[in-house]
Amino acid sequence: MNTIFEQVDTYIESLLAADDKDLKFARNNIASRSIPDASVSANQGKFLQVLAKACNAKKILELGTLGAYSTIWLARALPPGGKVITIEFDPFHVKIAGENLAKSGLQHQVDIRQGAALDILPELEKERAGPFDMVFIDADKPPYVEYFQWAIRLGRPGTIIVADNVIRNGKVLDKNSNDEKVNGVQRLNEWLSSCKDVTATIIQTVGAKEHDGMVVAVVN
Ligand code: SAH
Ligand code: DHB
Ligand code: MG
Repeated sequence: MNTIFEQVDTYIESLLAADDKDLKFARNNIASRSIPDASVSANQGKFLQVLAKACNAKKILELGTLGAYSTIWLARALPPGGKVITIEFDPFHVKIAGENLAKSGLQHQVDIRQGAALDILPELEKERAGPFDMVFIDADKPPYVEYFQWAIRLGRPGTIIVADNVIRNGKVLDKNSNDEKVNGVQRLNEWLSSCKDVTATIIQTVGAKEHDGMVVAVVN
């Protein structure tokens, strides 16, 4: 299917978010292995990069690395000496992410932490790894509220928090959904509606990744 949304996504991408050789290598390396097709699109990667630049991010935290496609977009926004810490549960994904980061020459600016995010996040707090200037939440969906609470805790006023996949083809409208991913993001979206710690909205997205959305928030 090549909808008007996909055509426009391709149009924007060709003007403003074309993959260069290192991002192409990462995308092909991910596509050729049996790992999920869950990387952000090129335009979404560029969107993350714009936000990281807008807040002058020097320390970025990412939950859910996969093959480090989004990580590369984020790391390219960093000034010299800046860092992305990215958390990934699956050792095979960590391996592929390592290959892709090495190819892009960014490995010195990215620290991949292998483990479950809810185990690693308290370690980061103990290490005083924060405060992070930007947090991108993109791991498993059921604990999205807990991830968001950690992002606030490891942030500071002004920290940008983005959470991916919170609309899920509009399935969030289905109050009777039994899908644990849908339920996880519904819980986050509803929790955010009464959260006083952030100023937040949700941007719907259409195009290469179908109809979805990202929470975009700033810590008060
Ligand atoms: N941010 C990536 C895509 C991430 S896909 C990009 O856009 O390029 C989601 C990733 O989260 C998968 O690699 C999955 O293995 C990982 N994941 C799932 N559960 C996790 C957990 N509990 N802790 C850390 N990572 C997890
Ligand atoms: C899924 C996860 C993602 O982070 C994504 O961008 C797309 C799909 C998933 O688990 O289905
Ligand atoms: Mg995602």
